[in-house]
Amino acid sequence: MKFLNHLSCIGLISLAFYSQFSSPSPETPTPTPWPEQFHALLSMSLNESNQITDLWYDWPKGRNVNVMQKQLGVLLYDVEWDNGTSFYYTLGGNPTCRTMNFEVGIPRPDFLNGANYLGTQVVDGFLCNGWEKVDFIWYYEDVHTKRPVRWDFYDGIITHVITFEVGAALPDSYFQAPEYCFSKEKDTSQSY
Ligand SMILES: *[C@@H]1O[C@H](CO)[C@@H](O)[C@H](O)[C@H]1NC(C)=O
Ligand SMILES: *[C@@H]1O[C@H](CO)[C@@H](O)[C@H](O)[C@H]1NC(C)=O
Repeated sequence: MKFLNHLSCIGLISLAFYSQFSSPSPETPTPTPWPEQFHALLSMSLNESNQITDLWYDWPKGRNVNVMQKQLGVLLYDVEWDNGTSFYYTLGGNPTCRTMNFEVGIPRPDFLNGANYLGTQVVDGFLCNGWEKVDFIWYYEDVHTKRPVRWDFYDGIITHVITFEVGAALPDSYFQAPEYCFSKEKDTSQSY
């Protein structure tokens, strides 16, 4: 699942829509920006499939890795760069790679700026503040710890945050797409 591609869309959309939101009053909670580096284990449910995503977000280095395991599927790596290039590849016996170029890069830590506050709600058993942004994402953050608990996309994809390790980062070598990603024609794609 193109997890961050969804989020990247918000960057574009928010350019157009940000001005429609009035600035929040002092007592209105605002979403905590994402840490510049973190590791999260995500449990995602789509309409008819389930997936675990191992997410490594690294804003200072402009990159982001999703290791995606669909239920009884193939382990898929998605290395996304802030210049808009994403590599989707598998390792092992019959490796594949697709390179995609998007209009925007990885989401900024403050991609939720300007979201509408929805109030508090118990989500996945945690008391959360919720926000909605441009009818695209509904985002829930623990009131006390400020950690993200869950976010839902407009298209029915629901993401539960299982672990959230602030400051965790992977060694550079982990982000290097395999050689076979560079030996064939690139696919190009729009991100929206
Ligand atoms: C973006 O950065 C990555 C990593 O440095 C690189 O492999 C890729 O070719 C770059 N894409 C573009 C369009 O420059
Ligand atoms: C899930 O189902 C809804 C309703 O049928 C559809 O609009 C949406 O695009 C689907 N989402 C995905 C990710 O397939």
